[in-house]
Amino acid sequence: MAKALKSVDAPEIDTERFRLRRFIDRLIQAGEVDIHDEPVELGGIAAILDNNPKAVLIRKAGPEGAELVGNVIASRKRMAMALDVEPDQLRQEVSRRLATPQPVVEIDRADAPAQKIVLTGDDVDLTQFPIHLQHGMDGGPYISASLDYSVDEKSGWTNTGCRRLMLRNRRQTGIDLLAPSDLKAIYEASASQGKPLPVSFTVGAHPCDHMAGTMRVPMDELELLARLRGAPLPVVKSVTNDIRVPADAEIVIEGFLDARGHVETEGPYGEFLGYYGVMKNNPLFTVTAITMRGDALFQTSTIGGKTMAHTDTANLCSVRTEVTVWRALETAVREPIAVSASPANGGAFNVRVSMRQRVPGEAHNAIAAAMGCQANAKNVFVVDDDIDVFSDQQIDWALATRFQADRDLVVASGFRTLPLDPSLDGRRTGSKAGFDLTIPFGERPLEFTVPEAPEFGEKRLNSVRDSLAEGPKFFADLMSDLGSRDGREIALALDEIRDQGILDRDDDGRYFLSDT
Ligand SMILES: Cc1cc2nc3c(=O)[nH]c(=O)nc-3n(C[C@H](O)[C@H](O)[C@H](O)COP(=O)(O)O)c2cc1C
Repeated sequence: MAKALKSVDAPEIDTERFRLRRFIDRLIQAGEVDIHDEPVELGGIAAILDNNPKAVLIRKAGPEGAELVGNVIASRKRMAMALDVEPDQLRQEVSRRLATPQPVVEIDRADAPAQKIVLTGDDVDLTQFPIHLQHGMDGGPYISASLDYSVDEKSGWTNTGCRRLMLRNRRQTGIDLLAPSDLKAIYEASASQGKPLPVSFTVGAHPCDHMAGTMRVPMDELELLARLRGAPLPVVKSVTNDIRVPADAEIVIEGFLDARGHVETEGPYGEFLGYYGVMKNNPLFTVTAITMRGDALFQTSTIGGKTMAHTDTANLCSVRTEVTVWRALETAVREPIAVSASPANGGAFNVRVSMRQRVPGEAHNAIAAAMGCQANAKNVFVVDDDIDVFSDQQIDWALATRFQADRDLVVASGFRTLPLDPSLDGRRTGSKAGFDLTIPFGERPLEFTVPEAPEFGEKRLNSVRDSLAEGPKFFADLMSDLGSRDGREIALALDEIRDQGILDRDDDGRYFLSDT
């Protein structure tokens, strides 16, 4: 049974604020949506979404002219908009929200927009939705923006995750439940007793709900959702099972995973590493009810392909990875500065960390922490705080100039990994690499000092000789002291002193008078 939830009158709760359509309206105003008013066949949707830097709104999808939105959070900017922050504050804001409890509030069915329309029995028909083929070799059309809700009998907590559903017929879908996950454990506990597992899916949800779906946090995950929204979460009990779901979702698909286990083929599917995942045996999901808003907006999520940076999945994974690695760094090293897991690599596999080292060796502690905290953090790059981890150019430069492979490479093997990684070539455990790109501890000789344009102060002195009489000076110091913005006359003045045989230079290249 679900944990007891606070019950209050519906009017206290705003069931429109976090609906997906409201967020899409904001994106439209911000010029972030590629809008298609013309009719689009279901088979043509994937090509419009592929590598599209914008969110996509198709107003007449398929013969029914259904409304469909995709790519909603396939950019860091849109993800940040969902949390009302600038992109460079995304990780910080998610961490802040995760630490701030928010209530979960159960509302009456009559007040739940997600149950405005209720379809049960013979009225249940998944093909009413614009479920489309996403990749050329997929095993069938998929519902890809589906977020599952189930109850863990042991704890009474609600669990949520993002899990795609492969359309089989009007009332049944496949589901991929092979990777280790809480839902897999909950399902297997139930199936081992011969019991089907009730699950309700939302389709069409606020980006914060998708973020919650990617995270594994030891708490009731409805509470996790509320925290990520930064607001009370209205939930409603499903019509045909006891699972509470967000009452402001666009669509809810209720049903159960039957107890027969991994017995039906599912896939292949264009996966979030950018390649196909092969066909597998997986459980079957049977729909018992569909509930939805009167003007429900169907959502699809982009997943695989060559341009991962423009997919919902990689952007979601980026945020999840950055938050998880940051948490691990906070305990492993004293001064972490920033973390980035670029969506171009799937948002998890190459992780960049910047830090201020306080004692020798901390960079290696950071590498170990990042490698250990998430199965798919595979290559970890650690830089000093002068490098921007979000800049490919700066990371490329640090790798080129601060790294010696025989000294700074950490290689470790035998880790739990993601079976989908095709480079594993069938191996069950994976190897990881750490790249220590920090400057050797405590050293900042000129060879590691970064050249910048000179800066000049106010004129203080009247001759190069007077300036050198104060002590060794760099060329720019001499220009500064004399108020020069040219420099050529300083070179000539130095040459005159050189001719007198009294000019010398120290090891850093500063000029000084050898007769003083
Ligand atoms: C868009 C998207 C789709 C996903 N689809 C699946 C899936 O079909 N099967 C799966 O096992 N994990 C999938 N994942 C990963 C899980 O959602 C993720 O591991 C989640 O944390 C699992 O939650 P749980 O451990 O609380 O059950 C997907 C992730 C994203 C971002």
